[in-house]
Amino acid sequence: MPAEKKGTTTNIYGEVDQIIKERLSQFNPDDIVDFRSDTVSKPTKEMIAAMYTYPVGDDGYGEDPTVNLLEQTVAELAGKEAAMFVASGIMSNQLALRSHLQAPPHSVLCDARSHIFNLECGGVAIHAGALMTPVRPSKGRTYITVPDIEEALVHTSIYSAPTKLIALENTLDGEILPIEVIQEIHEFAKSKDLPLHLDGARLWNASRETGIPIKEYAKYFDSVSLCFSKGLGAPIGSVLTGSAEFINRARQWRKIFGGAWRQAGHLAGACLYALQNHFPNLNKDHAAAKILGQRLEEMGYKLIKRVDTNMVWVEDSEALISLNEMAKEVASYGIKISGSSRFVIHLGNRDHVDRLTNAMQEIIEKRKNGGVINAI
Ligand SMILES: Cc1ncc(COP(=O)(O)O)c(C=O)c1O
Repeated sequence: MPAEKKGTTTNIYGEVDQIIKERLSQFNPDDIVDFRSDTVSKPTKEMIAAMYTYPVGDDGYGEDPTVNLLEQTVAELAGKEAAMFVASGIMSNQLALRSHLQAPPHSVLCDARSHIFNLECGGVAIHAGALMTPVRPSKGRTYITVPDIEEALVHTSIYSAPTKLIALENTLDGEILPIEVIQEIHEFAKSKDLPLHLDGARLWNASRETGIPIKEYAKYFDSVSLCFSKGLGAPIGSVLTGSAEFINRARQWRKIFGGAWRQAGHLAGACLYALQNHFPNLNKDHAAAKILGQRLEEMGYKLIKRVDTNMVWVEDSEALISLNEMAKEVASYGIKISGSSRFVIHLGNRDHVDRLTNAMQEIIEKRKNGGVINAI
């Protein structure tokens, strides 16, 4: 065989192969413990092994058995007629908002701290031409209630973009929205003929903590979005649930968004695996979060939210060491924190709270000894 000339197809593939192998060998992704979010949770080896075993088909023909099984299972869990598997929580929320709304002028009323208001690029303005009305909880409360909503409601007039949908989030910043409050908001929304959507990205956590079934929460909403790639640890995926008619509409919008699947069964399989194996363990995340909260308080940080589920929020402390500085320091211990107030527990870090708090304690001690930290 003549020697291969540089630039031939085989040669290029050979080079690519070598580059990829070399770079892969430099990866060492498992030695970092990450407390920034539960979205960073990775599929476990067992989940990856299970993903391989699920059958697939073309979901464009409705023939992916695992996607169908996931959608039926989640619809049943939520007590809804139908469900639709989508790539992300944002896609699920945005499809829900788009499918509920008709034509402008109109607006969506939501909690001012919610993901759909702050972190979805104002998508509902793009997709549905809708305004958003952000509502803050009245003083002393950690959630919005009917009087807050009533006050912010935009009524129909020749000048207005009237409220046509109310969207809630549970959990929000890790805090559980009480079911009685949901029920009151549901009754109010019904009295005004307004549909109610729930961003239930972490409804799993609320349900596991309170013991209230997903179905019981979901019955107060016209649509519920549930995420699998947060605390449940799937690599990707959310499911939107609602009436059959609503989900049919949403399927068409998903097509328009370019989000229809083909052989997505392995991904849906990861979600089924997560439901069976990770959902029941969320209480471990909550227990670890409570321990982390206590330890941070003992170090001198002040908790600024209830630790109901898997999130711990503390006030930044220049006196102690700012969280931004702390983030830089803990990096050398192989730990990532957000550098802002939030710490999040998930299956990838729940067993490493000691590692985090020992590192933080050591950093604080070092600073104290160096005379940088003020007495607290
Ligand atoms: C409450 C909430 N809703 C929706 C989303 C969006 O999910 P995704 O990142 O999968 O689009 C997130 C993401 O963290 C979230 O926290």
